[in-house]
Amino acid sequence: MSGSIWQGAGRRVFIQDVGPRDGLQMEVAFVPTEDKVDLVNALSHSGMAKIEVTAFVSPRAIPALRDAEAVLHRIERVPGVVYAALVPNVRGAERAIEARADELNLVMSATETHNLANLGMLPAQSARDLAEVARISRAAGTAVNISLSCAFGCPMEGDVPLATVLDWCARFIEGMGATGVTLCDTTGMAYPGQVAELTTAFLARWPQTELTLHFHNTRGMGLANVLAGIDAGARRFDASVGGLGGCPYAPGASGNVGTEEIVHALGLMGFDTGVDLERLIGIAQRLPSLIGHEVPSQIVKAGPRLRLHPPPAGFEEVRAKALARA
Ligand code: COA
Ligand code: ZN
Repeated sequence: MSGSIWQGAGRRVFIQDVGPRDGLQMEVAFVPTEDKVDLVNALSHSGMAKIEVTAFVSPRAIPALRDAEAVLHRIERVPGVVYAALVPNVRGAERAIEARADELNLVMSATETHNLANLGMLPAQSARDLAEVARISRAAGTAVNISLSCAFGCPMEGDVPLATVLDWCARFIEGMGATGVTLCDTTGMAYPGQVAELTTAFLARWPQTELTLHFHNTRGMGLANVLAGIDAGARRFDASVGGLGGCPYAPGASGNVGTEEIVHALGLMGFDTGVDLERLIGIAQRLPSLIGHEVPSQIVKAGPRLRLHPPPAGFEEVRAKALARA
């Protein structure tokens, strides 16, 4: 990307909220279907480029998203917003296509241990299944994105070689015809130098493929990783309203980088995210009433940097005293 990272100069960055899927999948409380629909609709009107609405997975694996069909059927489809759904297998794809998802987000892990823990299959078995899912989706005219979990490290196996990640991407893009790939930092193991290296290598090889970076803020490096990605040429980022999220099958997992935190920072830097920050903060502020606990987002707590506060009580007396001594 030409130009300094610190001067966005109106350059477009696409924000994709995964809160309704990655966020809610981890919650103990079942969020009623109507509330999920309202959440997706509110995000649609805040300027998101894409929303991951739900997941068509086994209801036993993820009970929180057992109402996937109903949610996708009832949401408002705002023109220009892409409504995606996560699918792990052929059954999921058939359900998602039937429910008219715009895009199927297929998922598998870069490591055997996480793939077995999350999907109950060896990576090679997942890849075979995903090839079939991609074929079905293309036949139905539905876009195919493939997410590679643990692309920046696995909480059980450790580092994943860059060559392994690129080999999987080659199979997804060249072998299965995926039009988009998401590199997922499932448990916040990514760091900026690594993000830059992987992003640069990916874009050099597949400049026409829609690349998304998906960071969790588990170790406080989410925003730094987003900036490293932008500097290396990435344009699309997953994030979760309020900073919800996490994989129930990854030890130590916690929330995605908060959407309002990225939008706030990128706005100050002059990038065009298309997202209305105040609206987004309003959505994040309503989340605790849905899920029964606070959300991790700093921006929800502190507000944007120019949200000013009145001086503390007794300030006028302090000023008068100071002036008297001046
Ligand atoms: N939608 C609904 N039900 C599904 C399904 C789908 N996509 N895929 C499988 N099932 C059902 C089967 O019908 C079966 O139901 P039954 O026991 O009532 O007959 C049950 O789930 C088990 O099916 P099986 O094929 O043996 O799969 P599994 O138990 O090995 O589970 C997955 C495999 C992939 C379906 C499951 O692990 C899963 O859904 N994982 C998703 C994990 C996830 O979303 N993680 C976070 C996001 S990365
Ligand atoms: Zn995630």
